[in-house]
Amino acid sequence: MNTRQCLICSASLEPFISFGQMPIANGFLTPADYSSEYFFELQAGFCGSCYMVQLIEQPRREKMFHENYAFFSSTSTRMAKHFETLAELVKARYLKASDPLVVELGSNDGILLGHFARSGIRHVGVEPSANVAQVAREKGICTISRFFDEDLAQQIVTDHGQADVILAANVMCHIPYLHSVLDGFGKLLKSDGVIIFEDPYLGDIVEKISYDQIYDEHAFYFSVASLSFLFAKHGFEIVDVRPQSVHGGSMRYFVARTGVHPVDPSVGAQLAKEDQLGLRDSGTYVTLRHNVERSRDELLALLKRLRQEGKRVVGYGATSKSTTVTNYCGLTAELVEFISDTTPIKQGKFSPGVHIPVRPYEEFRAHYPDYGLLFAWNHSGEVMAKELDFRDKGGKWISYVPSVQILE
Ligand code: SAH
Ligand code: TMP
Ligand code: ZN
Repeated sequence: MNTRQCLICSASLEPFISFGQMPIANGFLTPADYSSEYFFELQAGFCGSCYMVQLIEQPRREKMFHENYAFFSSTSTRMAKHFETLAELVKARYLKASDPLVVELGSNDGILLGHFARSGIRHVGVEPSANVAQVAREKGICTISRFFDEDLAQQIVTDHGQADVILAANVMCHIPYLHSVLDGFGKLLKSDGVIIFEDPYLGDIVEKISYDQIYDEHAFYFSVASLSFLFAKHGFEIVDVRPQSVHGGSMRYFVARTGVHPVDPSVGAQLAKEDQLGLRDSGTYVTLRHNVERSRDELLALLKRLRQEGKRVVGYGATSKSTTVTNYCGLTAELVEFISDTTPIKQGKFSPGVHIPVRPYEEFRAHYPDYGLLFAWNHSGEVMAKELDFRDKGGKWISYVPSVQILE
């Protein structure tokens, strides 16, 4: 899909950054696949009319979400804890009806929905990537392996009835056809039901210059301002917002049919913060581009200097986000020896585009490098706690969010 028109309101977009030709962020591959590797132009734009920041071109969804999808949610213990806490909140507050139904979009390997399945609560997961969906099914989680849209919403209503709660973590921002999704929510949600979803937050991207959140899967970069416009078009309103520290800064939104639930003061307060940050001003994104270009130049210069000094640098975490950084900054295997990752499906493969080898974590441990390049910076707390020995033995971390630096 390639459009210069806003996917939400059809106004003309103002492109503000191009990262050049980019591969599929989760497209870890073997050399046999190099010649057929898919590239597209990764470019983001701002809509001055509804304030939505979005990709200008997004690969077809089947290129990203399929039976070899490489992202397994349960690889992070921190995310497992995060979703356990969310499940407790939902159970305590929103499942008062008898025999309630919970529907989740992008349920992946069942990291969140499992908490409802194990409590005997009726649930349906919608997960188009067949391999991760199968892992969830093996855990006893009812999973439909399809893309959510209005038609599927109707089918779920026919088969299971309406939902008390609709959950969606790190998936709403993946779906370019949000109008169909919200029409689906209109059919699927009970009259007093609640939609709870969370995604990386635009305010954090601007503040932290975390440009690596921009990659193929993330069609949108949400703010309360842009989402308020979108939901209003479909008879919904945001009734509460709660910032989350996961994924480098996310926002959790609580949404209901307009006028049904009281609107918490957090919504107005966050809108005021967004205006202070300039999220509705196109100049903010021009400044962001300048900051991103500076960050790229500094990281490349640092890694070139370390190579000249004969230092070993190994990437830590073959994250989807790292694909933007490695390709945009031109980080090849000459600068980054390999990327250490705990996910079996990524090990033995090569990173998208720049083809840095991805190796099992045990190789990082067996022969510590001089520097660990923290691609999984959003999990830095978990990583630092786990890697005390690396530091004790003289290892240093390189981070590039919010600025390029060697962590002493
Ligand atoms: N909710 C999990 C997974 C996020 S990754 C977590 O927060 O960790 C995004 C997931 O959404 C992927 O598993 C992908 O296959 C799925 N997905 C992508 N498009 C979708 C759509 N239209 N409907 C439902 N799920 C979708
Ligand atoms: P994410 O940032 O998209 O959650 O992806 C995290 C990736 O980093 C995933 O492939 C697993 C990997 N990882 C490690 O290899 N070691 C770690 O300690 C952590 C936290 C993640
Ligand atoms: Zn718009």
